[in-house]
Amino acid sequence: MNIESMPAFSLSVEALQKIIAALDTDYQRYKNMGLSLDMTRGKPCAEQLDLSAPLLSLPGDAYCSMGNIDCRNYGGIDGIAEAKALFAEYLSVPVENILVGGNASLSLMHTELTIAMLRGVQGVRQPWSRLPNVKMLCPSPGYDRHFAMCEAFGIEMLPVPLLDSGPDMDMVEQMVREDALIKGIFCVPKYSNPTGITYAKESVLRLAEMETAADDFRLFWDNAYAVHDLVDDPVPLENIFDACEKAGNPDRPLIFGSTSKITFPGAGLAVFASSTKNLNSTIEFISKKSIGPDKLNQLRHVLFLQDRHGISRHMKRHRAILEPKFNAVYATLGNCLGNAGLAKWTTPDGGYFVNLDTTAGGAAEVIKMAADLGVAFTPAGATYPYSHDPRNSNIRIAPSYPAVDEIEKAIEVLSLCIKLYAYNSILSRKRATE
Ligand SMILES: Cc1ncc(COP(=O)(O)O)c(C=O)c1O
Repeated sequence: MNIESMPAFSLSVEALQKIIAALDTDYQRYKNMGLSLDMTRGKPCAEQLDLSAPLLSLPGDAYCSMGNIDCRNYGGIDGIAEAKALFAEYLSVPVENILVGGNASLSLMHTELTIAMLRGVQGVRQPWSRLPNVKMLCPSPGYDRHFAMCEAFGIEMLPVPLLDSGPDMDMVEQMVREDALIKGIFCVPKYSNPTGITYAKESVLRLAEMETAADDFRLFWDNAYAVHDLVDDPVPLENIFDACEKAGNPDRPLIFGSTSKITFPGAGLAVFASSTKNLNSTIEFISKKSIGPDKLNQLRHVLFLQDRHGISRHMKRHRAILEPKFNAVYATLGNCLGNAGLAKWTTPDGGYFVNLDTTAGGAAEVIKMAADLGVAFTPAGATYPYSHDPRNSNIRIAPSYPAVDEIEKAIEVLSLCIKLYAYNSILSRKRATE
């Protein structure tokens, strides 16, 4: 959003000064309130966690899984049969291609990167760490923890724009065709963090089919929000596992998911799905660091969630809690900013975030001003590799955790800071050109 294109650009210097004086008074009023609000992380609120309270008393005495396996004991490195069946249905992937382990999909992504860096994928290719420079495509804006992980491994991140249909596929195809050091791409294909878009069928098929210079290219397919709908008829996501198989690239997708935002983040289940070759390589690798996962937790999740219908019923309860919070964000932004053209924001069909773009060059200053009023937003730039938002305009809003009245207050503050930044910028530009 450029200053010259804003309707307020046609205002006189005097009119702008008057508006800014009124906004300054509001700013002081909020300052005197001594607010302390946090809109930074997308984590479930206590009411959402309460939905899964029955988990805490499961599995009781019924601690054996299928085949009379005692879940209290060691073993079962790839998860219990019932949990694998649950996630096979959840991800629409054959059960033999599923591994359930640990409590965090991020840990599984980290494991896959470790395998690739140390041993090469499937243990037969050159380890990525021996290459002069490993590169990963990062659709942006994206998830800050993916970027932090790449940075920690010394992987060079190449941003590609995330469009409404998914990554800019023309750019992706050209880059991966020309550069064998580009070894993968981080994707959040459904209700992407933070823009909330779902990859279009065509984008998924192109990712599955595209020609890559690297023969060990991998799609890190982080399907964190597979069932996190906020509408009745969500657009379905094309099945990447099937698409890659059909395209003759069965080893390309590394699919991740978890129940972090279904049951308990930190005490949920994580899942990895991939080709038999990839899965075997992973099992071989992780069996050196663990004798087996927490099978009791897997069992209690299966008893609680049961099947995809059970998950769907449970997610409707989440939606009932989340929807008023998202609506509070939209209503407050609408009331405070209207259609003045000072910012534009998303109204996603699911997921955990509202993505807002403010005046180019303004995000860092707006977030700093809000912090000064006691309202924390995700740091500016965090949604881009190396924390570098080239337009300095992107602000991620995470409405799940705070209460509705806190959200309203926080978004009022955000809107005020957006207005202050925009009107002051317009005023300085006008003065400079006078
Ligand atoms: C896109 C995405 N992936 C992964 C995670 C974390 O998942 P987990 O708790 O399974 O590690 C999040 C959490 O916000 C996320 O937004």
